[in-house]
Amino acid sequence: MEFAGQHIISADQFDQLSLERLFEWARRMRGIAQREVVCNVLEKYDLGSFFFEESTRTRLSSERAFRLLGGHVCTMTDMKFSSIIVKGEDMEDTFRVLSHFCDIMVVRCKEEGQALIAAENSKVPVINGGDGKKEHPTQALLDVFTIKEENGDRIDGLTIAMVGDLEHSRTVHSLVKLLTLYCNITFLFVAPAELQIPAGYLALIEERGHRYEKMEDLRTALPHADVFYMVRPQNERMADEKKPVINGRYQLTKQLVEDHCKPNVIIHHPLPRNDEISKDVDSLKGAAYFKAIDNGILIRMALFILVLGKEKKFV
Ligand code: NCD
Repeated sequence: MEFAGQHIISADQFDQLSLERLFEWARRMRGIAQREVVCNVLEKYDLGSFFFEESTRTRLSSERAFRLLGGHVCTMTDMKFSSIIVKGEDMEDTFRVLSHFCDIMVVRCKEEGQALIAAENSKVPVINGGDGKKEHPTQALLDVFTIKEENGDRIDGLTIAMVGDLEHSRTVHSLVKLLTLYCNITFLFVAPAELQIPAGYLALIEERGHRYEKMEDLRTALPHADVFYMVRPQNERMADEKKPVINGRYQLTKQLVEDHCKPNVIIHHPLPRNDEISKDVDSLKGAAYFKAIDNGILIRMALFILVLGKEKKFV
């Protein structure tokens, strides 16, 4: 995959080589992120930061990444007051107009497929920061990077348990796609039957030669997984009758981890968490979810460099 000038809408766009290239650039960004080196390669560039749905991490991480590279951020303080909501402007016109105010944009949309509409109407590259329950490719990139960093640079052969609302969690969807680019992965999908991972992802896993098991009980997965990827119930996009099935159902505690999990288990979560990881897990050495925040900044810096074609500025 070539990055320069591309929209980043789906994890489908990546192959393993492009992932490794991105990760190599992410590692190179550390000195800049830690303020040891000053970087101005994006000095004349504006990032459009357009979020039509709540965001903390993706928005602030993208904006910080851009600023660390010397760029500026163009945003709207509250999308509820945008013409799209108040004056009935459609998505096509909205993104067409927004793309005149920036050199690249990160967008978050309420409905699946709207990031693609943004890309089709924008004259600058669009990065999908989450579209409905469909995908969240930059989160999945930082998730794979984090697992690699925590596991001695290796993904092949891992057993990865994904736990919670697997139907509506876009980070799970993008992450499954990226993980299938590696070799010999075993997926353990822990969810109530009503909220299991959609069938298309299972087909992809089989097609690429990996294994999976579906299960309802978290305890079944505890001794087998090398990585736990916990997600919260996506109540904002879930039918009301499913909410009692998942809310409060799964919780990883320090006790469970210490009594049943592998000694080097990695525990990860895209955040925000509800109660699926109890706070006493935070101090365990395998807890990766807060460390991942810095990784997210590195990944987004790398992505901006590659999509804006600025590699040659680093020699
Ligand atoms: C995720 C999202 O928005 O999909 N958050 C994030 O970007 N880190 C996960 C979630 O909201 O549950």
